[in-house]
Amino acid sequence: MVFRMEPAKIKAVMPVAGLGTRFLPATKATPKEMLPVVDKPAIQYVVEEAVAAGIRDVLMIIGRNKNAIANHFDSVPELEEKLTQKGDDTKLGHVQRSSELADIHLLRQGEPKGLGHAVSRAQSHVGDTPFAVMLGDDLIDERNPLLPKMIEVNEQKQAMVIALMEVDPDQISLYGCASVEATDDPDVVKVLDLVEKPAKEDAPSNLAIIGRYLLTKEIFPVLEHTAPGKGNEIQLTDALKEVAADPENVDVYGVIFRGRRYDTGDKLDYIKAIVQLASDRDDLGPDLKPWLKDFAASI
Ligand code: G1P
Repeated sequence: MVFRMEPAKIKAVMPVAGLGTRFLPATKATPKEMLPVVDKPAIQYVVEEAVAAGIRDVLMIIGRNKNAIANHFDSVPELEEKLTQKGDDTKLGHVQRSSELADIHLLRQGEPKGLGHAVSRAQSHVGDTPFAVMLGDDLIDERNPLLPKMIEVNEQKQAMVIALMEVDPDQISLYGCASVEATDDPDVVKVLDLVEKPAKEDAPSNLAIIGRYLLTKEIFPVLEHTAPGKGNEIQLTDALKEVAADPENVDVYGVIFRGRRYDTGDKLDYIKAIVQLASDRDDLGPDLKPWLKDFAASI
């Protein structure tokens, strides 16, 4: 008899330990990941994206003050009972959805020493299986799935995969930036080098890392010795740069994302994200769009 091992399931790791200082005072007592984007907290979009890609296990690396995130993904029996009594199935569905989406695990980061450090904390949870790191500031439109392609490239090439997007050269200093080589697939590139938040003049390209990574266990020993970099933080970009440069280590590929991405990391982009997403919604768009046109004409 032949036994076939089921391929181990990919897990998601979401670092959510940031202080959200750009949104103070809103984030004084509320984690920035809980700020609503239309009517859902930003982090729920990211969990839904993971679930849509077949991921059921989500590890959140949290900081202090993040209890609201844990509560959001838990059930609230009193509220559910009230809504059941009222017969309000729509609202009941909304309340239940976030607690039934996925298995959410929480791990405290301890000292906030940067994204690379947060990811290194996931080691015992993910074990030897490739895992998706998903940053809460980047929302990927559900109509343009990105993770499935990254998982496919990881499986094909047995490599780490990062998501890249072309940005205006003036914006590159806000992102990790990749130097790449083309492959046969126009949406896939081989990553040769990486630099975290370069000045415009020093950037090797206009390809920015957006917050999705498909990593393999080989990242952990590298993260262990990655020295603090930009902002005196242990940068995931620096660890990936080392992996990409080392011919003995696994390769790093990039998937070029050409779909709709919303940045909720700063105030202006957050407002734009809400307006764009609300405009596309059937319940809000038909009223919002003509109002937006009038408003735009009046300013
Ligand atoms: C992080 C990464 C950066 C990446 C960005 C994507 O930076 O360090 O390489 O381009 O996320 O959103 P942060 O925006 O957390 O400063």
